[in-house]
Amino acid sequence: MPISPWPERWALSIFIFLSVASVFTTSCENLLTEAPNDGDLLETPLPNLTRELQIMFNKGDANFEATFSVVQGLGPLFNNASCGACHPGDGRGPESVTFQRFTEPGGDPRKNGEPQLQQFAIPGVSPESLPAGSLTSPRTAPPVFGVGLIESIPEATILSNEDAADTDGDGISGKANMVPAPPFVPPTEIGGGPGLHVGRFGLKANNASLLAQTVGAYLQDMGITSDFAPEETVHPLGNGVTLGDNVPDPEISAATVQQTVMYVRLLSPPDRGPITAEVQAGEQVFTDLNCQTCHIPTMQTGPSGIPQLSNVPVNLYSDLLLHDMGTELADGRPDEQASGSEWKTRPLWGLRLIGDFLGGNSNYMHDGRAATLDAAIRLHGGEAHVSSDGYVALSDTDRNALIAFLNSL
Ligand code: HEC
Ligand code: HEC
Repeated sequence: MPISPWPERWALSIFIFLSVASVFTTSCENLLTEAPNDGDLLETPLPNLTRELQIMFNKGDANFEATFSVVQGLGPLFNNASCGACHPGDGRGPESVTFQRFTEPGGDPRKNGEPQLQQFAIPGVSPESLPAGSLTSPRTAPPVFGVGLIESIPEATILSNEDAADTDGDGISGKANMVPAPPFVPPTEIGGGPGLHVGRFGLKANNASLLAQTVGAYLQDMGITSDFAPEETVHPLGNGVTLGDNVPDPEISAATVQQTVMYVRLLSPPDRGPITAEVQAGEQVFTDLNCQTCHIPTMQTGPSGIPQLSNVPVNLYSDLLLHDMGTELADGRPDEQASGSEWKTRPLWGLRLIGDFLGGNSNYMHDGRAATLDAAIRLHGGEAHVSSDGYVALSDTDRNALIAFLNSL
C-alpha cells in the first residue's frame, strides 16, 4: 500500500486523535463523580438560616477546621490539633481509637490528668501515661451533624422512654445518664444550671450540653483554654510544678467558642437514601427484631428560639438512653451514672454515608471495632441479645434487606 502524502496522513492522525480524545472525554465524564448534593454531605446547614445565623455558622465552620499550632496555644497536652481532624467532614473519627477516657481506682484524678488520656504534648512536656491498673474506655469520635436537633428534644420526651425496672418485661430497660453541668454553662443553655440534666452527648451520654461538650473539646482534646475554661489541663507533677504552654490564657474568646457551638448546632442531618422495596422489607425486619425499641426512629423537638429546631421531627433512630450491652462491649469503666457495660444507643441516621468519609473503611460501635454492619449487629449483647440472636437466625434475604435498610439511613 502506497504511503499517503503528508497532508492526508496528518488529516488521518488528527481524525484518530480527535476520535480517541472524544471517546476518552465521554468515558471520563461518565467516570467522574458529580459534585455531591448537599443532602449527601454531613456539613450542610439546616435550611433557610437567617443572615445572622448563617454568618455565625460560617465563622464556626472556619473554627471547626482551624488547626492550632504551638504558638497559638496548642497543648501543653493534647490529642489532636483541630475539631475537623477527629470529626472529618463532620462525620466519625478516622482511626479506630481517637482517645481514651480513664480512671485510676484510688488514684489522684488531678495528678493523673483524668478523665482523658492525652497521648501528645508540645516540645519540652511529657505526654500523659496511663497509671497501672487504670480503667480505660477507648472511644472513636461520633459524627457531629444533627446535634442541635438532639439538644432540642425535651428532657421529658427522653425520660418517657426510660424503663429502668423493665416493667414491660421485654428484657430492654434503658435509663438516662443524669449529669451535672459545669459551672460555666448558664441555666439559659439546655443542660445548664444547677441540678442534674439528661446527658445526650458522648458515647455514654456523659454530657448534657453542647457548650460543655465544645469547651471540653477545646480544653481536653486540644489544650486550648477559653473564657469558659481558662486553666490548662496540666497537672502537678508531684513536686508542685505545673507546666503550661507559653501562650497567655485564655487562648480563645467566649465569642469564638459560641460560634463553634452554633456551627455544630445548625448542622443538618443528611437526606435519606432511595427507599426501594428491599429497604421497605428491611424496615419491617428492623421492627420485627425489636431494634426500634432502642433505636427509636423519630422523636420530636420542643419549642426553640431557632425555627429550624422548633417542634420538628428528629429521625435519629435512638432513644439517647443507656443500655447494658453485655460483656463483650463492656469497658468496665463507669461514667457518671453509666455502668461499665452501658452505652448510649447509637443514632443510626447517616449510616449510608459513613464509608464515604473514611476512605471506604467504616468503623462501627464506640471504639470502631466492627468493620461491617453485620459485625456491629452481632456484637449486640446484654439487653440487645434477643435482637441479635434474631438477626443471626434470619434468612439471607431478610438479613440483606435489613442491611439495605440501615444503608438507606
Ligand atoms: C481528639 C479527637 C477529637 C477532637 C479534636 C474533637 N473531638 Fe469531638 N468528640 C471526640 C470523641 C472521641 C467524642 C465522644 C466523646 C465521649 O464519648 O466522651 C466526641 C464527641 C463530640 C460531640 C458529641 C456528639 C454526640 O452526638 O455525642 C460533639 C458535639 C463534638 N465532639 C464536637 C467537637 C468540637 C466542636 C470540637 C472542636 C472544638 C471537637 N469535637 C474536637 C473526639 C474529638
Ligand atoms: C437494647 C438496646 C438496643 C437494641 C435492641 C438494638 N441496639 Fe443497636 N445499638 C445499641 C447501642 C447501645 C449501640 C452502641 C454500642 C456501642 O457503642 O458500643 C448500638 C449500636 C448499633 C449500631 C452501630 C452504629 C454505629 O454508628 O456504630 C448498629 C448498626 C445497630 N446498633 C443496629 C441495630 C439493629 C439492626 C438492631 C436490631 C437487630 C439493634 N441495633 C438493636 C442499642 C441497641
